[in-house]
Amino acid sequence: MSHDDFPTERPAVVTCGLPYATGDLHIGHMRTYVSGDAYVRALETLGQETALVSGTDMHGTPVAVNAEKEGVDPEEYALELHEKYAETFPEFDVEFDNYSHTHDDANVELTREFVRSWIDNDHVFEKEIQVAWDPETDQPLPDRYVEGTCPYCGEKARGDECDEGCQRHLEPGEIEDPTSTLTGNPAEYRTREHEFLRLSDFQEYLQGFIDRLEGTDNARNQPREWIEGELQDLCITRDMDWGIDYPGEGEEDLVLYVWVDAPIEYVASTKQYSERVGDDVFDWEAAWKAGAPDAGAPDEADPETWADADTGEIIHVIGRDIIQHHTVFWPAMLRGAGYNEPRAVLASGFVNLDGKAFSTSRNRAVWADDYLDEGFAPDLVRYYLTTTGGFQHDVDFSWEKFQERVNGELVGTLGNFAYRSLLFAARNYGGAPDAETSEEVSERIADAVADFEAAINDYSLKTAGEAAVALAGFGNEYIQRNEPWNLTDDEPDRAEQVIYDCVQIAKAVAVLSAPILPGKAQQLWEQLGEDGAVDDATLDACLESPPGEFGEPNELFEKIEDERVDELNRKLEERIDAATADDGAADDADAEGDDPEAVDLEPVADERVGFEEFKDLDVRVGRIEAAEGIEGADDLARLEVDIGVETRQIVAGIKQLHDLDDLPGTKVVVVANLEKAELFGVESDGMVLAAGEDADLLTTHEDSEPGTKVR
Ligand code: MSP
Ligand code: ZN
Repeated sequence: MSHDDFPTERPAVVTCGLPYATGDLHIGHMRTYVSGDAYVRALETLGQETALVSGTDMHGTPVAVNAEKEGVDPEEYALELHEKYAETFPEFDVEFDNYSHTHDDANVELTREFVRSWIDNDHVFEKEIQVAWDPETDQPLPDRYVEGTCPYCGEKARGDECDEGCQRHLEPGEIEDPTSTLTGNPAEYRTREHEFLRLSDFQEYLQGFIDRLEGTDNARNQPREWIEGELQDLCITRDMDWGIDYPGEGEEDLVLYVWVDAPIEYVASTKQYSERVGDDVFDWEAAWKAGAPDAGAPDEADPETWADADTGEIIHVIGRDIIQHHTVFWPAMLRGAGYNEPRAVLASGFVNLDGKAFSTSRNRAVWADDYLDEGFAPDLVRYYLTTTGGFQHDVDFSWEKFQERVNGELVGTLGNFAYRSLLFAARNYGGAPDAETSEEVSERIADAVADFEAAINDYSLKTAGEAAVALAGFGNEYIQRNEPWNLTDDEPDRAEQVIYDCVQIAKAVAVLSAPILPGKAQQLWEQLGEDGAVDDATLDACLESPPGEFGEPNELFEKIEDERVDELNRKLEERIDAATADDGAADDADAEGDDPEAVDLEPVADERVGFEEFKDLDVRVGRIEAAEGIEGADDLARLEVDIGVETRQIVAGIKQLHDLDDLPGTKVVVVANLEKAELFGVESDGMVLAAGEDADLLTTHEDSEPGTKVR
């Protein structure tokens, strides 16, 4: 089944991954919310009927653990954060049509209905399982109450997710070497009875679903491995007090797993929105239910109907860490209760600091509040978050990059074009001169509109943003090429024509940039003398004539100076250093004589290297194939490194610092055109890059193949 292009006849729901009520929001979280908000605004610009919904994720161990640390009741703790989040979003111009939370009556009731429906349709069964238990406090240790090793990739993991490794969801009992986060004791296992959703009932359905799913490639591809393999049933209950009580018979002491009630909030929140504004304004059932086949049990239903399903215009915007929940568990949950499946999942890459994920608990982050306290307009970070790098790629937050995007495209291209055109128009004609848009400019605007529309249908905010900025770039080139300032005396008609064209372009730029830059686009809209909100304008407005009169404009954007960036970097570095020192202190708690403060950093070299000189270095990704110590040399190891084009023998001073048996398979960064050298009689053909005294080997974080050039 292929989907119609937007705008479609049916109302669309865009949802944003619910924030856990665990602490302050950082701009990593904001990537989810800003993208959801920008996407929904863009759909509206296309003329699509939409709702943007989310809510606070109040339950689960992340919340319970934090509340316990603070010594407060989880409900009170979570509600306070919920209110804070609800106030923060509008400050970033993230405007939800409904923002509630998972602990309210609407969600509790709807969650119970979902679960009852799975029970009625025979998708739930009971099983005895081994759950982690703290022997000292004599209590069960669900999810984040345990830490250990991921059985799939061997990385350090939390009880229910491999957050630092393969990102998989982990079922109770799966984590290896579990230790209690309450006491640090190794956890024991006890037998308990739990309820499971039989995901294998949905295997065939999910295989069809994943072929229909739209959105980003990571969300469409990553789940295949799970869906095509044997689906593990999902434990839907936990031994906890905090959460929604399991609604089935005889399990009064169990609550539902947080990932049951959390996504159901997407539906509950939409329903609340409909109830508030009326079904005639937004009909939640048209999006979530209309056309959905009966829930029925698969063995009773016609297999064709069961495997097939209707798509609602439901679009989930999330970060890449929760793809499995949205593309495997959630569609099965919806299908099992007779709801429509999502049409698309947009999963963004992470926002990192220094290559490592933000961490709320470690204060390693750029906080949403800190950003606002710096006095920057929300539009700037919205632009940065939606258009820097590919949407699916992780980005390292950097103020330099932020400055580069702001000063280059927003100040230099968009702001500059709008200001010079409107100033010229206001000074010479008191607004738009009396003319009509030229054919060249009409066509260029129509192309930008088409690019924008295609980008949104392709789920690419980055391309949509580029369409708006590129149109402003064309405007700059157009005004420069036509030099209206030289025409006003001798060819006044031509001058009027050129300036009218520029005002038309500015109007189109306002409409096309509004989803990402709602505040600045509104300012431009008002400078153009337009009434009302640019938000209400649809694509047609790009070619509708602008009003005739307006006064002199103000500059939309302000350049960010280098000194400001230095200052911001200084603050950020202090924060990272403090967090790293804390990390070190925690990790090295029982190491002797290791003073984490004692890192003595060398000053940055005074002498600059030209770009050409830098380019002469041939730096590439390599993969270590073999590693062995060199006899007689204390520190040296002989490595065989595949650099794509060939395999090199490289000598590296890492013998004492790494377990050589662990190295094969590790990706490294290699200087491939370094002069050959001979060390202890062994020829070294290249150099492997490593940081610091511990020879921390540089590696890549995505799937770049050996031989890929590093620039
Ligand atoms: N509560 C769950 C989501 C439940 S959805 C039914 C959760 N909460 S969260 O607070 O950890 O994350 C909220 C959103 O922010 C998610 O979309 C998540 O992927 C995203 N991000 C959290 N940290 C992030 C970064 N550092 N970078 C980019 N996105 C990040 O997950
Ligand atoms: Zn893993």
